[in-house]
Order: sequence, then C-alpha cells, then structure tokens
Amino acid sequence: MSLKRYVSSLFRKWAQELEKPPKKESFLNKKIPLPKWALTGVVFLCLVVAILMEVGISKKHFLFAFLFSGIWSFYTTLYFEIDTEIRESQFFLIVLMFIFFILGTQFIISKNPTMFLLITPAVVSIVKFLVTKRAALFTTIATSLIASVLYQMDFSVFFISFASGIGALAFPHKVIKRSDIFLNGISIFVFMLVGVLCLHLFGVRQNVFFIIDIQNTIFTSLGAAIFVMAFLPVFEGLLGLTSDIRLVELGDFNRPLLKRLMEEAPGTYHHSLMVATLSEAAATAIGANGLLARVGAYYHDIGKIKKPQYFVENQTSENRHEKLKPEMSALIILSHVKEGILLANQYGLDECIKDFISQHHGTSVIQYFYKKASNSSPQDESTYRYPGPLPQTKETAIVMLADSVEAATRALDEPDYERIREVVNKIINNYFVTGQLNECPITLKNLQKISEVFTKTIMSIHHTRIEYPDSK
Ligand SMILES: [Fe+2]
Ligand SMILES: [Fe+2]
Repeated sequence: MSLKRYVSSLFRKWAQELEKPPKKESFLNKKIPLPKWALTGVVFLCLVVAILMEVGISKKHFLFAFLFSGIWSFYTTLYFEIDTEIRESQFFLIVLMFIFFILGTQFIISKNPTMFLLITPAVVSIVKFLVTKRAALFTTIATSLIASVLYQMDFSVFFISFASGIGALAFPHKVIKRSDIFLNGISIFVFMLVGVLCLHLFGVRQNVFFIIDIQNTIFTSLGAAIFVMAFLPVFEGLLGLTSDIRLVELGDFNRPLLKRLMEEAPGTYHHSLMVATLSEAAATAIGANGLLARVGAYYHDIGKIKKPQYFVENQTSENRHEKLKPEMSALIILSHVKEGILLANQYGLDECIKDFISQHHGTSVIQYFYKKASNSSPQDESTYRYPGPLPQTKETAIVMLADSVEAATRALDEPDYERIREVVNKIINNYFVTGQLNECPITLKNLQKISEVFTKTIMSIHHTRIEYPDSK
C-alpha cells in the first residue's frame, strides 16, 4: 500500500470516528421552548392548590380559586414577557423552587403562625442567578401572592414579600464573586426594612410589634444569603446550570484547557481574545449577557488545539493545506467543532459553553476550499458544510458574527472606519441572508447595533484614527 493511500485511510477512519453520533443528551440538558403559558400554568396550579388548602374544598371555593388564579395568571402573562427559551433544567428549577416555597412557608406557619419568615428572597435569588431576571421578577410576584394566601389573605405579607423579592432582584446587578451573595442579602434587608417601615407608618400592621418585624427582616435576609450560598453550587452541579460566578471561574486563564490553548495554539488564543472583546461589547450593547459571550468566545475554537498548524492564525511558515486535497483540508477544518465538543466533555465544561463550540459556524460552508475544489470538478456542497446547529441564543449568534469579522478585518491592509464598516456589514448581511440567524431571537435592530459596536471596537483595537465620512 502506498504511503498516500495509507494516510488517506487513516484520515477516513478518523473521520468515521468523528461521525459517530454523540452521546445521548441527558433530558435536563435539552432545551425547550418555554411558552408563556407553561410558567403561568404552574403559577395558576400553585395558586389554586394554595387557596383551596386555606379555604377548604367546596363548589363555591373552587369557582373562587379558579377565577382568582385565572385572572392573576392572565395578568402576569400579558405584562411579564418570559424569555422565549430556557433549558428544561431551568424550568425544573423554577418548579422545584415553587414547591419548596409552598412547603417551607406551610412549615413555618405550622410551627408558629405569628412568625413571619419569608422564603421569597431566597427563592427569587436562586432563580435570578440560575435562570433570568425576568423569571425572577415573575417568581417575586407569584410567591408573594401565594405567601399572602398562605398567611390567610394578609395584604401586608404580600407587600413585604414583594419588597424583599425586589430587594433580591435589585442589587447587585452582576454576581461574579461568592461574596457578592452577601451584598444581595444586604439589598434584601434594606428593601424589606423599607417595606416594613411603610406598613407600620401607615398603621397597616398594628397587630404586630415593630421590633418583631425588624427581627423577621434580619432573619429573612440572613437566611436568604445562607440558603443561596449553600444551595447555588448544589443546583449548578445537579442541574448543569451556570451562574455568572461559575462563568467568571470558567474564564480564568489558569484553567487547564485555556492554558493548553495558550501554549499549543497561540494564534487561536489571540484570535479568541479578540473575538471575546468584540462579543462582550456587542452583547452588552444589545442587553444580552456580555460575560457569557466573552467566556463562550474564549472556548469557541478550543478544538483547534488538536491540529493547530492547519489553521491560518497558527501557521508560521509553511501552509500545510498546499499538500492536501481541498476535501481533506475541509475535513480537518470542519473537525475542529467536533474535537472541541470532545475536549469540552473531557474537561467537564458546562452546556452553555459547549453551545458556543457547536454553534459558532452554524451550517455555513467553507467557501475557500469549496470554490477551490469546484474549479476542477463539480462538488457536493454538503462535504464543505459545518454540521450545525444554528446559533440558538443572541450570545452564540454574536460570537458567530464576531468570529468572522475578526478574521476578515485582521487581513485588511489599511483598516479605516469606512472599510471596516463595509466588511462588518457585508459579513452580517451574508449570515442573515443565508439563514444562519434564523433560529436565534436576534432582531434587525440588534444587528444594526452589533455592526456599530464591532466597527468601533475594531477601530480602537487597531489604534487608528477614526475617519468619519462627514469630516472629510
Ligand atoms: Fe471555529
Ligand atoms: Fe474562531
């Protein structure tokens, strides 16, 4: 057997290995489109059960419970837009938090009916850190309502519970250190204290000593901080969810995988840093998660460390593709996505980071090798196409765009504002018209903003004076 055929057979075997279907995903990692009615339905059921538990089961009470819960659920569905897609595990977490809330509150009431220890801020904080702020706002309202029902329709309970939930939501905006959880506890204390003061000032809680409510406020906020501190890592681990604290840890360059990227593929490492800077700026500008986009960008090309010399940013002298057929070159380039997923599994990276690895090329075609091969004979486009999936979130879509923009603008000889803007717009347009952005919730307004931010950021990276067309 000639050496060439032997090498070809090795490549074929390797390709077959990569083609093997990936391990079946755990049901908790699958993504589900979360229709508004699903979360509203859970709140509706919780309310019905809570009301019936309080007032007893009868025909009249059933009607009351259904009407009351129905009107409230309809109201929240209309006014609080829930994110269109969350992971099943996040949905599971919300349900778990509601169950914990109802059972916990019932337990406290059964021990001491005058004791007023709210679980709302603890539950809201967990949802805020592991799902979204919107879902946490929804949880604040729903749990406050349930609490007031459990405390025998006491409006003051709803008010204080709502204040404590808003406290959990309000500060800090980003929780990036474990110690920030205590700042969250202080925010809960301040908001709840204001709520308590207001009620006592207006004489709504005349039946309760002020000092007792202050005591309740201290225990509730302290309890929330301790609960979050203890259970946040547990829920992260059990449900495969990622908080901002975890993201900061994943973005640490002392982590073994990032160290390997730095040492084994320095060109890709530099490219990833550039993509991260662009992505974070763009994501923050459109209200997406900048931290997630940055850390996702660090890892997006991690698969290239398997064969760094085959990627242009790591080539020093010779171009290894010159000796290869375009099909073979494409096979190696395409493989960096699957190799990346394999490495991510090996190093225990989170699902949200794997999304960046698998989605950052969508189902685009490697045009360079496709055209090169098409010059000699007609080619099957699918050989040169990435397997996908398409980007599913704003953050992964931004990294896809930043990836191409960074590579294209790096090659520009004399980058000026107009030239960069032209290249950026061309790339974004191309991804848009080829349908690569069809499955992510990005709007045209977002794309306009992303294009602006990319252009400005690249200009500042190149340290070139910005020449606005009007200034000429
Ligand atoms: Fe890539
Ligand atoms: Fe890349």
